[in-house]
Amino acid sequence: MSTPEPGILGCGRLDGEVAIVSGASSGLGRAIARRLAAEGAAVVCGDLRRSPSEGRLDGDEPTDALITASGGQASFVEWNICDVLQTNAAMQFAREHYGRLDVVVANAGISLTEGGSCPTRRKRRGSGRSR
Ligand SMILES: NC(=O)c1ccc[n+]([C@@H]2O[C@H](COP(=O)([O-])OP(=O)(O)OC[C@H]3O[C@@H](n4cnc5c(N)ncnc54)[C@H](O)[C@@H]3O)[C@@H](O)[C@H]2O)c1
Repeated sequence: MSTPEPGILGCGRLDGEVAIVSGASSGLGRAIARRLAAEGAAVVCGDLRRSPSEGRLDGDEPTDALITASGGQASFVEWNICDVLQTNAAMQFAREHYGRLDVVVANAGISLTEGGSCPTRRKRRGSGRSR
C-alpha cells in the first residue's frame, strides 16, 4: 500500500489496481489522481502537458511527481483526449507499464482556452453539421 498523502486518509481500497485519469495535471483531474493514489492505485496521469496550469493554489509540481514523492506509483503520459490515436496509446501505455488497467476516469472536457481545438467538434466540410 502506498503512503497516503498528508491530510488524506487512504484505506488501500485500490491496492494493486491501475487507474488512468485524463486532464490529471490540474484541477479536478489532479485531485482525483491524488486520491486514487492515496487509495493504493498506480495512476497514469494523462494531460496535454505535464505541469499544472499557472496560478494554482496547490503548487506547480506535476501530479505524477507529487504522487511518487509521497510513496505512490504514477506516470505521466501526453494525451489529448480529442485524438483517438493518443487515447489508444495512453490506454496501451497503462497496460504495458503496469500490466493491467482497472479504472478509467474521463475527467478532461473540451477546452477552448487550453489550446485544444478538438477534431470531434469541427464542422464537417460541406455538411454544415458538427460531428
Ligand atoms: N471545476 C468545476 O467546477 C467543474 C464543473 C463542471 C464541469 N467541469 C468540467 O470538468 C473538467 C475539469 O475541470 P477543472 O475545473 O478541473 O479544469 P482545469 O482547467 O482546472 O483542468 C483541466 C485539465 O484538463 C487538461 N486538458 C484540457 N484539454 C485537454 C485535452 N483535450 N486532453 C487532455 N487534457 C486536457 C488541462 O491541461 C488541465 O490540466 C472540465 O471539462 C470542466 O469543464 C468542471
